[in-house]
Amino acid sequence: MTFRAVLVGCGAMSKGWLSAVVGSELLKGRVEVVGLVDLDHKAAEARALEFSLTDAVIGADLDDVLSKTIPDLLFDVVVPSAREAIAETGFAHGCHVLSEKPMATTLAAGQALIAKAEAAGRIHAVVQNRRFISGVRRIRRFLEGGAIGELTGLHCDFFIGAHFGGFREEMQNVLLLDMAIHTLDAARFMAGKTPLAVYCHETNPRGSWYAHGAAANAIFEFSDDVVFTYRGSWVAEGANTSWESAWRFIGTKGTLLWDGAEAFDAKTVTGDGGFLREVSPVAVPDPEDARQTHGHASVIAEFLDAIEAGRLPETASNDNIKSLAMVFGAIESARSRQRVEIAV
Ligand SMILES: NC(=O)c1ccc[n+]([C@@H]2O[C@H](COP(=O)([O-])OP(=O)(O)OC[C@H]3O[C@@H](n4cnc5c(N)ncnc54)[C@H](O)[C@@H]3O)[C@@H](O)[C@H]2O)c1
Repeated sequence: MTFRAVLVGCGAMSKGWLSAVVGSELLKGRVEVVGLVDLDHKAAEARALEFSLTDAVIGADLDDVLSKTIPDLLFDVVVPSAREAIAETGFAHGCHVLSEKPMATTLAAGQALIAKAEAAGRIHAVVQNRRFISGVRRIRRFLEGGAIGELTGLHCDFFIGAHFGGFREEMQNVLLLDMAIHTLDAARFMAGKTPLAVYCHETNPRGSWYAHGAAANAIFEFSDDVVFTYRGSWVAEGANTSWESAWRFIGTKGTLLWDGAEAFDAKTVTGDGGFLREVSPVAVPDPEDARQTHGHASVIAEFLDAIEAGRLPETASNDNIKSLAMVFGAIESARSRQRVEIAV
């Protein structure tokens, strides 16, 4: 079927959404954009022109545009601080809502949105596009298959000197809330484990161009005694890692290294003597389903597939809240300087 959608929030990220909806093979013929909304009317008009959406209703008031268009879907691409009110308006109009990350600005607000979606009988999901990439899918499959034995630890480094300007430079806990949500979600997905607790040290390093929390170091306890360590900074100039981070996965039989791009290096023990055991390389197979490796387009396709099949999508809010809980657990730990249990 072709879904009718209104997109709200016509800023920078909306270009990625509309490019996926209009240009991706995965979404061809599946979505008609019937409305574009932004507080800045001109921003919505500009996107309509850019993507030749000449029949779309343009407006600054979401409630009004939803009343005029009665869409199936609301695509929520507003700034995080506006998210909760926007998603609620979508449910009130009977829309399935796909929101940008983070799904809410507090855990309680996230839980309230899950309840609102359930009460409305609508699907509510979150864009975690960075788990819909080839490397993350390959690693999930590789680890799940036991290629390096049982997973005992995963460790990642995220270091980028990123100069965005805009809302991020004013935000509290900017790295954890705006970026680490992707990395922590990917860690949870690749490990296939449940987050149980966290200790985090958060800083805004000297020279930072952000208002707060541009760096963080965290130790997460996952189920089955798996440890996940995260080291990240958005004010680390001089040697950028990939946006996906640089990773080390350790299992009972070997190790997988991933540079966050195309380089995979997996080795398992093949010798049984000597101080350092002999190791041999192991291949990391391709992803099982190439449809799941196209970022935003894959998240949107999964959302549509789930609605059609009457099931929950992979990034449904009632699962995604576990990633949000990792973020807020880390923020709380940094504030209290205590280990914090994660319970959602
Ligand atoms: N998934 C990703 O990889 C990724 C990447 C970048 C940004 N994002 C997320 O996308 C969201 C938007 O980020 P952005 O970079 O496009 O921000 P932006 O500031 O460029 O755009 C946000 C737009 O929302 C509009 N807006 C704000 N409140 C509104 C309201 N109540 N009603 C209608 N419009 C409203 C603003 O006028 C602005 O045009 C954020 O949640 C951000 O975290 C995700």
